[in-house]
Amino acid sequence: KSCVLAYSGGLDTSVILGWLQDEGYDVHAVYVDLGQPCEDREATMQKARDCGAVSSRIVDVREELCRDFAFPVLAWQAKYESIYLLGTSIARPLISKVCLEVAREVGATAYAHGATGKGNDQCRFQLAAEALNPHVEMIAPWRIKAFRDAFPGRTELIAYCEQKNIPVKASTAKPYSSDENVLHISYEAGRLEELDVNGVETVDFGMGVSPQEAPDKVEEVTIGVEAGVPVSLNGKTVSALEMVEQLNTIGGRNGVGRIDMIENRFVGMKSRGVYESPGMTILYDALMYIEQLTLDRDLLHLRDRLAPEVAEMVYYGFWYTPKLDALMAFIREAQQPVTGEVTLQMYKGNIMVSKRSSPNSLYDDEIATMEGGGSYNQDDAEGFLRIQGLPSRVQGTVRPRNY
Ligand code: ARG
Ligand code: SIN
Repeated sequence: KSCVLAYSGGLDTSVILGWLQDEGYDVHAVYVDLGQPCEDREATMQKARDCGAVSSRIVDVREELCRDFAFPVLAWQAKYESIYLLGTSIARPLISKVCLEVAREVGATAYAHGATGKGNDQCRFQLAAEALNPHVEMIAPWRIKAFRDAFPGRTELIAYCEQKNIPVKASTAKPYSSDENVLHISYEAGRLEELDVNGVETVDFGMGVSPQEAPDKVEEVTIGVEAGVPVSLNGKTVSALEMVEQLNTIGGRNGVGRIDMIENRFVGMKSRGVYESPGMTILYDALMYIEQLTLDRDLLHLRDRLAPEVAEMVYYGFWYTPKLDALMAFIREAQQPVTGEVTLQMYKGNIMVSKRSSPNSLYDDEIATMEGGGSYNQDDAEGFLRIQGLPSRVQGTVRPRNY
């Protein structure tokens, strides 16, 4: 039997790597590089082989993550429960895709991951994997009672590694758990489970400073967008990955993009999360300002009504579905005119608009002007309101309101 493992080099997946072998699997370790910090990638791959992996590899999909996963979600302005920019949710289907590509190459029939049975990630890994390969055998050790019984805590995980000669970093356990990629860092669990603990004061943020520590000075950034896709930064054409990375630096040093929320997991429970996503936060604003200029009103309103639906699908893990395919085709079409440039000012965690322009601007100061003249005829508003008000006048006659 042979299996691919979504391997991070951390304690859990190192133990799972050993355990899968105990269960009789040949294990192929796949480290999907999404921009998470890793001190020494080659050492991590060597460690996987030392732990008995038949093969181990790093697959760098940072560009694909930004270009083909995060940017389409950005084009939807999709935020889960109003504020979460979905940084972890978006990455999970891509991890499954990469692992299944490796599985096909090495002839593995099973796919294992280290997500727990209590969370969202198991849903995203599995729903994506099964959509791509309906015959894949999913192995989620944390959902297996024997595995949980064998490893009730960190102590047992570490003991297992020592017994199997799996090197474990003598890292002091953080008071919370985190997940990082180029889009964001999430922080959950541990001390953050207590709601009277201030989240942003507890977390040791990795991408930037707090608004309080940010400079007392406005920093400007100019972003160019073509058909809904961010393409240039301060006048220079950049790739999707460069865009996100550079905006992480710029936003990070200005305290942009930190949130603390209670969210509804797909499995039903509420959980508390602290997130930082400086670059993506800037991009959501930048795109919005150009949409304001270029998008037809009714199309914009329709997109905004559907955006929570898209956010929910991405959050739950329904990435590879005909419904999301169709929604993505919709947004590609809708974003065709969204081309232009916007200059934003960042100041202590805030983002303010300074300038915006577009060759497709629908804004017409001849029509909008409050000065006399122009091409808008106020006489027309008489008939417009007579007809808009007709049902209300009938209602008001038949069933008068108390006021
Ligand atoms: N709650 C966030 C989400 O569901 C973050 C999950 C973080 N995952 C992790 N394994 N630490 O998208
Ligand atoms: C996990 O349970 O594996 C992490 C949290 C989540 O998936 O929501």
